[in-house]
Amino acid sequence: MTADKQTAKTPTIEIRGLGKFFGNIIALKDVSFEVYKGEVTALLGDNGAGKSTLIKTLSGVYRADEGEIAIDGTPVSFSSPRGAAAAGIGTVYQDLALQPLMSVSRNFFLGRELSNTLGFLDFKRMDAITREEMAKIGIDVADPSQPIGTMSGGQRQTLAIARAIYFGAKILILDEPTSALGQKQQLEVLRTIKRVRDRGDLAIVFITHNDLHAKLIGDRFAFLNRGKVIASGGRDDIDMENIRALMAGGAELADLSREFAQG
Ligand SMILES: Nc1ncnc2c1ncn2[C@@H]1O[C@H](COP(=O)(O)OP(=O)(O)OP(=O)(O)O)[C@@H](O)[C@H]1O
Ligand SMILES: [Mg+2]
Repeated sequence: MTADKQTAKTPTIEIRGLGKFFGNIIALKDVSFEVYKGEVTALLGDNGAGKSTLIKTLSGVYRADEGEIAIDGTPVSFSSPRGAAAAGIGTVYQDLALQPLMSVSRNFFLGRELSNTLGFLDFKRMDAITREEMAKIGIDVADPSQPIGTMSGGQRQTLAIARAIYFGAKILILDEPTSALGQKQQLEVLRTIKRVRDRGDLAIVFITHNDLHAKLIGDRFAFLNRGKVIASGGRDDIDMENIRALMAGGAELADLSREFAQG
């Protein structure tokens, strides 16, 4: 391992030689990278690169066929999403798993609603906590009892992030959080991610195929291509100008251009 400034600290999550196969399809092979708290690790890759498979393996949906995962230096193995969540992995999937007809605060507590001593849902307390947690992350929710549909796409993404943090995530995995949004909303979500990063106590894995977004908020980068990490490193280790080429599969492109050059 190189003696850069990071070697002094233990990664919040360390992935070593991860492999996942579906029959004879190699979805992931020998995938290694580290994620640190107080940092955004941008995981880039084109369609079919293995991003979703990687997230699902880290989230306990799939079990890895090879390799290991360590959290704060301790090897872990999840047999269910519940196990991964208990270990501090909070995954915000692209669909956000929101109930469109329910209120903002009901969505915040979805499946983990608070009750009062009489056993009734405690809307007042859920509203108050939702407002408080959203304010912490920089979104002012005037009335959390309003349907979630009254929120913008960016605000909904933020709600899903605030919810994961409130329920104990220390490693936040964000699956293409900016991909389904308009430009203004994309920036709002990037601002949210930056704010969460700056708290310093959470490690963020930001999955994207948008090189510009990765460049804006990534502290380290890993490029997945056909199930393999073809490049990784910090801002100083990665040729930022080359991100676009790496995204498209740097190694293969280089091979191809050599082939063409040779005629
Ligand atoms: N359940 C599965 N069964 C068989 N093959 C699968 C399964 N899930 C993924 N694959 C294959 O594994 C590879 C990686 O797929 P994955 O969905 O992880 O890519 P991705 O990077 O998330 O792509 P996208 O950007 O399109 O979402 C692909 O070749 C895909 O066809
Ligand atoms: Mg995917």
